Amino acid sequence: MKNMMKSFVVACTFVLSVAAFPAVAADVKAGAKVFKKCKACHVVDAEKNKTGPHLVNIMGRKAGTLESYSKYSKAIQAADIVWDEATLDAYLTKPKAYIKGTRMAFAGLRKEADRANVIAYLKSFSE
Ligand code: HEC
Repeated sequence: MKNMMKSFVVACTFVLSVAAFPAVAADVKAGAKVFKKCKACHVVDAEKNKTGPHLVNIMGRKAGTLESYSKYSKAIQAADIVWDEATLDAYLTKPKAYIKGTRMAFAGLRKEADRANVIAYLKSFSE
């Protein structure tokens, strides 16, 4: 009986963790779709600047410091932010609220899942 109880608990834990996973797991493929909103201004699969700086190796990059990009706003250069999941999430929620004076003319991604997915996608192009 004790053993049966134990396996029941184990089974429940397993089911719970599997069920909970999709809610938090970021999806690179879905992120590629979200990135279509960024493509007018950003490239991530090559070190090529457009209206915005390329996003290759964005994880760990200090904001506003890509040498090949000369159009950064003073605001982003003074921001003293290093890009990681948390700072990207904040910036992409509402760019102009997170960095007042940023040149990025993008309203933001309101859905948390969209942000998580696009960040996972960006991460796949970072070392
Ligand atoms: C209308 C053009 C435009 C769109 C759309 C856009 N961006 Fe930007 N982005 C920019 C510009 C311009 C900058 C430089 C900001 C500055 O100088 O203040 C920038 C900066 C950034 C930075 C900081 C890069 C660095 O080197 O510090 C990240 C990260 C970023 N964008 C991600 C995104 C993502 C992800 C999307 C889509 C969800 C997106 N952007 C949509 C124009 C755009």
